[in-house]
Amino acid sequence: MKQTDLDAALDGLPLGRLAYFERIGSTNDLAAQWAASGAPDLSLIVADEQTEGRGRAGRQWFTPPGAALAFTVLLRPSGNTSSSHLPRYTGLGALVVCETLAADFGLQSQIKWPNDVLIARHKACGVLAEAHWLGEELQAILLGIGINVAPPSVPPDEQLNFPATCVEAHTGAPIDRLALLRRVLEKLIEWRKVLNTPQFIAAWQARLAFVGEWVQISAGSSQDIIGKLLGLDDGGRLKLELRSGEIKSVQVGEVHLRPSVDSQPK
Ligand code: BTN
Repeated sequence: MKQTDLDAALDGLPLGRLAYFERIGSTNDLAAQWAASGAPDLSLIVADEQTEGRGRAGRQWFTPPGAALAFTVLLRPSGNTSSSHLPRYTGLGALVVCETLAADFGLQSQIKWPNDVLIARHKACGVLAEAHWLGEELQAILLGIGINVAPPSVPPDEQLNFPATCVEAHTGAPIDRLALLRRVLEKLIEWRKVLNTPQFIAAWQARLAFVGEWVQISAGSSQDIIGKLLGLDDGGRLKLELRSGEIKSVQVGEVHLRPSVDSQPK
């Protein structure tokens, strides 16, 4: 990957600032600096390698050179964006990756709510959407996307908290990372226009993994919730049916599949 190749690959897209790094700590960290210094909407940072790539819940994100697609898009919120819309940005990142994999490679992928893209139930991409505030005012959303493209981008077993894969393992052919980036950005620009509509939630839900399966949601300090995954509510929260029959929506948390031995309601 080279800056000139990146410029050529993204030619004509309505981007703000654009920077490419052969090696960086984390594209999301630099994007936070850009947000503070007034970078315009749709500014983009792309890296071939990250030495301090970050995932959700303080996890590391593995980005060795030459194998992954790692980038952050800085989005300036529209006037009517409130904090209740923020989870949609994670969904936006995951949805546009799924849509691109389907359109360009015929790959059926799914979203492990809220932020993972799975191919054949293995993680191939993660999304880290971070909000940048100035006091009470939302200044920017930093949408970081990491796609495992070639086999070396799949983390070693000891770093995995969920089985992982890469896109090339399923296409059986090498992928042009810059062409993939362009397609993801094109879709992001389109889907963002309908982010606050039921159409967006419907598309996100249609890609949801584990629907109808029993899952356990862990959310840090609060107690885990076990339920059958039903889908999304109209705010993009995960909707579950508890063992009691109660329907509950959760806003944050990590989805774990229930082990088959106790996956049925008691
Ligand atoms: C996750 O699965 O927990 C989210 C992973 C997000 C990784 C991307 S790679 C580009 C951007 N920079 C980072 O440091 N993280 C995100």
